[in-house]
Amino acid sequence: MSASTIPAPRTAYTRSKSSRSQFELFAWLFMRISGILLVVLIFGHLFVNLWVGDGVNAIDFGFVAGKWASPFWQIWDLLMLWLAMLHGTNGLRTIIQDYTEKKGTSVALQVVLYTASAIVIVLGTLVIFTFEPCPAGADPALLASFCTAG
Ligand code: HEM
Repeated sequence: MSASTIPAPRTAYTRSKSSRSQFELFAWLFMRISGILLVVLIFGHLFVNLWVGDGVNAIDFGFVAGKWASPFWQIWDLLMLWLAMLHGTNGLRTIIQDYTEKKGTSVALQVVLYTASAIVIVLGTLVIFTFEPCPAGADPALLASFCTAG
């Protein structure tokens, strides 16, 4: 049956027998599930960074260094990075596909989108796991004060 043919009113519903890929279904489901997880991750992040203790006044290089010394916050930030990037990228993929009229424009924008997204995910992941606040052998003049204290 071609897409423009309207089936007879009593025809059985056949979508489950379709050979179409399930990708869009999972992409839709992913937006809902990642959205719920992002609410917890983002508001937890804002609460801890901006509210608890001295709140926003406590944020500096040492604050970030202290957080990433803990595997808990490394995993928290990693999840937030990956989910926000994949969620945002998939959302923009939908928008590009909805609004572009030419195939070439759609492909070009998607190449830019996926490239930018991959760079941010890879760099962000590297930063979270390779962050070293007091690198050995560095010029002391460039180090944070707490690295040389004591
Ligand atoms: C507080 C956490 C978030 C929740 C609960 C949430 C929820 C959602 C949901 C349910 C959709 C699907 C809408 C639809 O299919 O009609 C969506 C779409 C989208 N989200 Fe999020 N989101 C959150 C955070 C983010 C973040 C951090 C970004 C960017 C990095 C983002 C970017 C997008 C984009 C670009 C779309 C596509 C919009 C469209 O199709 O018109 N969202 N969001």
